[in-house]
Amino acid sequence: MNHFVSIQLDKKSKTPLYKQLGDALYNFIQKGVLKPNTKLPTIRTLASQLKINNVTVVNAYKYLENKGVVYAQIGSGTYVSPLPSEIISPPISRKIDTDIQLKQITITKNTINFASISPTTNLFPVEDFKEVFNQVLERDKGDAFSYQESQGYYGLRESIVDYLKNYGINTKSDNIQIISGAQQGIDILSKALLQFGDILFVEQPTYHGAIAVFQNRGARIVEIPLESDGINIPLLEDYLKIYNPKFIYMMSYYQNPTGYSYSLNKKRKLLDLAEKYNTYIIEDDYLSDLNYSKEPNIPLKALDHRNRVIYIKSFSKILMPGLRLGFLVAPKPLLNHILSAKHTTDISTSSFIQRVFDLYLRKELWKNHINKICNIYNKRYDCFIHNINKYLDNYVTYTKPNGGLSLWLKLIPSISTKTLCDKLLSKDVIISPGSLFSTSQNFSSFIRLSFAAVDEKEIEKGLKIIKDVIEKMIDNSPSSTTPFL
Ligand SMILES: Cc1ncc(COP(=O)(O)O)c(C=O)c1O
Repeated sequence: MNHFVSIQLDKKSKTPLYKQLGDALYNFIQKGVLKPNTKLPTIRTLASQLKINNVTVVNAYKYLENKGVVYAQIGSGTYVSPLPSEIISPPISRKIDTDIQLKQITITKNTINFASISPTTNLFPVEDFKEVFNQVLERDKGDAFSYQESQGYYGLRESIVDYLKNYGINTKSDNIQIISGAQQGIDILSKALLQFGDILFVEQPTYHGAIAVFQNRGARIVEIPLESDGINIPLLEDYLKIYNPKFIYMMSYYQNPTGYSYSLNKKRKLLDLAEKYNTYIIEDDYLSDLNYSKEPNIPLKALDHRNRVIYIKSFSKILMPGLRLGFLVAPKPLLNHILSAKHTTDISTSSFIQRVFDLYLRKELWKNHINKICNIYNKRYDCFIHNINKYLDNYVTYTKPNGGLSLWLKLIPSISTKTLCDKLLSKDVIISPGSLFSTSQNFSSFIRLSFAAVDEKEIEKGLKIIKDVIEKMIDNSPSSTTPFL
């Protein structure tokens, strides 16, 4: 289809013609009508179609080039710039190159699992839940198993309002949508907010479960590098000037996979930019409670006075993943779209589980549990750091996260992560390769090691195996290797 003939130029306007034309083309690029690497019409063709001078077109193309949205190839023509990082559109073109990505690994009781970020089942608060389960059954009888309203059980939404006050988030029960886990939250937000070809921004690297959802919507993903104190702000602003993302997906604490957390300064800047460029931020809070530092964590949503943040809370890591329960807090204009996406997805989250969880929150049983697991994981974290330093000091570098359930390790350049993963697998040790966490298969020299599902004995044993495998790989490599010394 020839989109160019629809361009209307006003010769009487004070805005120069080249700028009007440039802005019209810019609009096509932003909306994805003109895809990256599309060749623009030749100067003569466009000038004759729009009945304007060649010079006007030349100037319009120059104007777009200065904005960075097109590039000229000498002797060939002018093309739409690729998006800042790799963009996947349409979906699912990722190479699946390790067994770990295929997720077909058999886990036996001897497996040392550094890949899972799910807590071990012996830490689940089963006794507390037994008590509230019975109370709900006695109290609500058959009602506990009826269909629930799609937005969520009103009592639970009310108790979440109180619960959120502990985190500095003030909201109303009307703004809360109950979801069957954060993964569903990401999915219904994508259904509510994204059309095929829409652009969204993510941190690079990021959670692969979110990437998969966005790809399935046929969205175009722009990856913005993450630094140890949050997203790269100047780059984010550069991209916001060019593209008009539907939202920015981020994790403010113990980001998956890096473990990085945002500084207060970057959180404020991010909020300012969302306001300035009129976009939303999806804050995925899957883990902020596991804080091993003395400083309290402040969710981005607690600083969001201009209603730019959609906050997703998961209870999978801090309570039990099998509950399949979470919630999101969204700005009012989005609520109806979200509700309708939730309704078409699964009508409602389990009525029984919502009532049970409501009572669990009202009795404040969660406070003791979170304290308990935070202490346990803090000890494991210390043990993990100690053993990484003991066994892998020469082979990896990392930033201490002071919270969460994993570390993001950069390997010395000569170690192939894929070979390392495969060799470890044959020794019943599993780890997550960095390439899982980006659309562009970057981060091939990184691994994520988690201590969620391993005890202190397994940590020491597993890290020693990793050291032995790395040393063997170095010994067998044709060129000599310089470890980080
Ligand atoms: C960052 C992140 N968001 C969301 C999820 C999904 O959580 P849920 O079990 O609540 O669906 C995960 C699971 O690991 C995760 O790591």
